Amino acid sequence: MSILFFRKKPEIVKPMSISNNDLLNLNDKTAIVTGGAVGIGLGITARLAEAGASVMIADLSEEDSNKTVSDLTSKGYKVKACKTDVSSETDVKNLVEQTVKEFGSIDILVNNAGIYPNILVSKMLFSDFDKILAVNLEGVFLTTKYCSEQMIAQGKGGKIINITSIDAIHPSMMGLAAYDASKHGLWGFTKNSAIELAQHQIWVNAIAPGGINTPGVAKATAGAGKIDPKMMEAFMAKIPMHKMGDPDDIGKVALFLASDMSSYMTGSQVVVDGGALLS
Ligand SMILES: NC(=O)c1ccc[n+]([C@@H]2O[C@H](COP(=O)([O-])OP(=O)(O)OC[C@H]3O[C@@H](n4cnc5c(N)ncnc54)[C@H](O)[C@@H]3O)[C@@H](O)[C@H]2O)c1
Repeated sequence: MSILFFRKKPEIVKPMSISNNDLLNLNDKTAIVTGGAVGIGLGITARLAEAGASVMIADLSEEDSNKTVSDLTSKGYKVKACKTDVSSETDVKNLVEQTVKEFGSIDILVNNAGIYPNILVSKMLFSDFDKILAVNLEGVFLTTKYCSEQMIAQGKGGKIINITSIDAIHPSMMGLAAYDASKHGLWGFTKNSAIELAQHQIWVNAIAPGGINTPGVAKATAGAGKIDPKMMEAFMAKIPMHKMGDPDDIGKVALFLASDMSSYMTGSQVVVDGGALLS
């Protein structure tokens, strides 16, 4: 390491000069949570809102968004919704405009919206592959592009949290080849945008969930076209904690990454999987 690096006397920051409460306080922050109406997105929306952030839910489903807005505003939280398809550039531009109009800024972006249809490659249509990439990867590009432009213009830095998956690291089951391609891609996008945006004090990190109980998983494991129960059994058998996670397990880690608790982190991926990747 260069001697020059040490020429300036390092500033000594008093340990614990900020209280835990202040570190977690998001009172003056505005967050966008894509797919924030149900499931993992709702877990994240609820934790950020409880920490004081104004949260804009950017979800395809107006019905689920309205229900969540009504539930959370009745608790005194500042939550609104803007119907958004993250794969539409027009929708994403509108989302950014509406969020700034309603709340005055964008400080935190959580890229959570994602789809995971289980289709074998040999049965997959080009349109299936295209759709999965459009939502899970191109959607994140669009929100990151327009939100980071806004964060840079504000000049106060920001936080971007991308919800990847353990499938961004290792495949969890057959039928997820396109999904795994999108999530591996998202992890690459996270790391490179972290390098690029660091000059603007915008920190970009990822959370890689394992199996989490959500409406999306309930749909994938029941009814027509459901995942083979034997594959689900094998998946469950690999989890050392012997249970699926809850959306709040991800919400709590998202709060950590959205707050000053994670002040020296960028380009990291936090695995939250009950130990599944160990086996
Ligand atoms: N549940 C899990 O076990 C698990 C594991 C690893 C990663 N993930 C990831 O977590 C994220 C959320 O998963 P979930 O299980 O909560 O999903 P979910 O299906 O339960 O909820 C997803 C939400 O996203 C919204 N959405 C879907 N497409 C959208 C689009 N184009 N634009 C805007 N909103 C859209 C839906 O309306 C819904 O409200 C996804 O990115 C998923 O890949 C989930």
